[in-house]
Amino acid sequence: MLAAAGIRRPNRALANPNGDPSPSPLLLGVDYYPDQTPEALWDEDARMMAEFGFTNVRIAEFAWALMEPVEGKFDFSWLGRAVQTLHKYNIAVILGTPSAAPPPWLTAKYPEIVEVNAQGAPLHPGGRRFTCPTNKTYRRLSLAIAGQMARTFADAPEVIGWQIDNELTLSSSPRCYCNYCQAGFQEWLRSKYGSLDNLNRTWGTVFWSQTYTDFSQVPVPLPSGGDPNPSLALDYNRYQSYANTSYLEEQLAVLRKTCPRHFVTTNNVGLPLDLIDLRSLYEKLDFVAFDNYPGFFEMLLHEQSKSGPVSWDYIYTATALGHDFARSLHGKPFMIMEQQSGKAGQRTFSPQPNKGQLRLWTYQTIAHGAMGVNYFRWDTATFGAEEYWHGILNHDRSKSPGFDEIKQTVKELKALGAEVLNASYPAETALVFDYDSDWALQIQPGHSGLSYTSQITSWYGAIASIRSGIDVIAPGADLASYKIVFAPVVYVLSEAQAAKVRSFVQSGGVFISNFRLGAKNEFSQMARTPLPGPLRDVMGVTIEDYVPIYSAKQGVKFSSALAGADGECGMWADVLQPTTAEVLGSYTSGAHAGRVAITVNSFGKGKAVYIGADLDPASLTRVLRSFSALAGVKPLLDVPSGVEVTVRSSDRKQWIFLLNHTDAAQTVNIPGPHTDLLTGESRTGSVSLGAYGVRVLQAS
Ligand code: GLA
Ligand code: ZN
Repeated sequence: MLAAAGIRRPNRALANPNGDPSPSPLLLGVDYYPDQTPEALWDEDARMMAEFGFTNVRIAEFAWALMEPVEGKFDFSWLGRAVQTLHKYNIAVILGTPSAAPPPWLTAKYPEIVEVNAQGAPLHPGGRRFTCPTNKTYRRLSLAIAGQMARTFADAPEVIGWQIDNELTLSSSPRCYCNYCQAGFQEWLRSKYGSLDNLNRTWGTVFWSQTYTDFSQVPVPLPSGGDPNPSLALDYNRYQSYANTSYLEEQLAVLRKTCPRHFVTTNNVGLPLDLIDLRSLYEKLDFVAFDNYPGFFEMLLHEQSKSGPVSWDYIYTATALGHDFARSLHGKPFMIMEQQSGKAGQRTFSPQPNKGQLRLWTYQTIAHGAMGVNYFRWDTATFGAEEYWHGILNHDRSKSPGFDEIKQTVKELKALGAEVLNASYPAETALVFDYDSDWALQIQPGHSGLSYTSQITSWYGAIASIRSGIDVIAPGADLASYKIVFAPVVYVLSEAQAAKVRSFVQSGGVFISNFRLGAKNEFSQMARTPLPGPLRDVMGVTIEDYVPIYSAKQGVKFSSALAGADGECGMWADVLQPTTAEVLGSYTSGAHAGRVAITVNSFGKGKAVYIGADLDPASLTRVLRSFSALAGVKPLLDVPSGVEVTVRSSDRKQWIFLLNHTDAAQTVNIPGPHTDLLTGESRTGSVSLGAYGVRVLQAS
């Protein structure tokens, strides 16, 4: 195999003394496309990438047609030569399995592998990410090419790891509704519920006469004259998440068996994309890898936003949320597999980032726990759907506007070294992100404007203004290490999750939630007790009424404990009936004027806060900050708005990251003498940050 691909056999002793994935170099690299580049340029590219300081490349994730031009006829000779060329310049290789884009011969011979969208229409070849995650034929063919690649490169010294497929969360049609998925879903239900009686009872299928007398009768939620059974719809989203995860894990098993020396991951765009439960998808992988394009994100939000320009405060905060989520998935440093390196987009694209922003956005990933960054991409494609997704070299292979800035950044990150890049990220605060509540709220939002991910992003923004580390955790996660836990819109709540919250508050924690708490159980059936269901005792209230707000204006008057300007209530108001809780705010107008909007309950040694009102951002920030202070969370540093501060630490050292997201110079007061590791300067009292400036400070 190796010889066939023109690869010389490694001396294993060096590469991997005791068999576990060999320690990889610092992962500071670039995504490279030898499959799209004339071979005559490979040597020059590799030499330039080495001079640039890159340690690795990711290649081949879209090269199926070249690696298997005819079914069963594999040709890795070109890839072997590319890998050799890179090795000549000591550049390590991450190989991508190419199942995100099958070749035309495959879709022509096996047309049934395409995805069927939520309207029941099949997708068509010609783009990418259009295949069904359940289809056994596609899985067999994907496994065949991944297996061949693995056997061919298992012992290649240059190869250090694998990326399975590409961005499973990203597709024009996020879920598949085809017959193969229907059969897969029915199988999944059989193993989850065991009996039809249990399924019918749990879903309440007697409603609208949907009682199933055979699992083969269970449909997928395609258009049907009326809304689907919400329990079925929630389980279907869970099935699709499972189908993508098991599809990935099939390839993982082959790679683990064939390439025990190599690490394995996959890349995704994290929150607010919520198609697949990324906790299950990354569970068995070596580390989490995400893709990060803040400039492109700004353009996307601009295109989607009905309410005018989007603030950069929102963009860098939502980006920070994505990073904290990536880190929290494994609770350890993660990698950025694709980092923006210039203008970004397809049909429409974002402008060249301002000078300093590419470096700033890179440091934001490191500041939130990244241990490696690969830039997308080395050159800019001169053909294909992404001709405007600019790389480090322009279309004419001249230096792109960001070339020197990124080169400088890579040099600096190398100087910071493994100790800083692999340091941990202390957090006393946790924000709960729950796929079930997210999906159940998408299925039945109650108010068309109510979006779980928007609530999560606005809460994250309010909490981030406290300037302290935030983990983004799963419901049911261990809460013991946190002082305060924020959990907005816990629409789906199981007894087990409620028990975790109960013991957390009992032992002194502060738990803060808001409207719709506990409205549904884990089967998406309504709680049959007064709300907030299983947490009535902890919250010390019951819900008198839940009110979607359309035209009526509603406000909130705060009690002296939360003294401050009256708040506005957006699209939802839970009207609270305190049992043991203390009133902190009341509605000011309409049918519920004077009724209770916000409460705090002392429970055990802790506190539980229920915010019934969909508070305006300023009031929400004030309320969440005051309880964070009450919980004893101290800001890392007092910094001006638009400046981010994070801390990473190893057992003996701490590093403060200061990130200026504004185009104006800023000054930050610092306690005691510090050394800026990027400039070597020793500073006391205060440090200045230029526009989009970055500082990495170590106490001296
Ligand atoms: C994504 C994909 C890449 C490429 C880049 C730029 O993140 O993973 O293949 O499409 O974006 O679009
Ligand atoms: Zn399908």
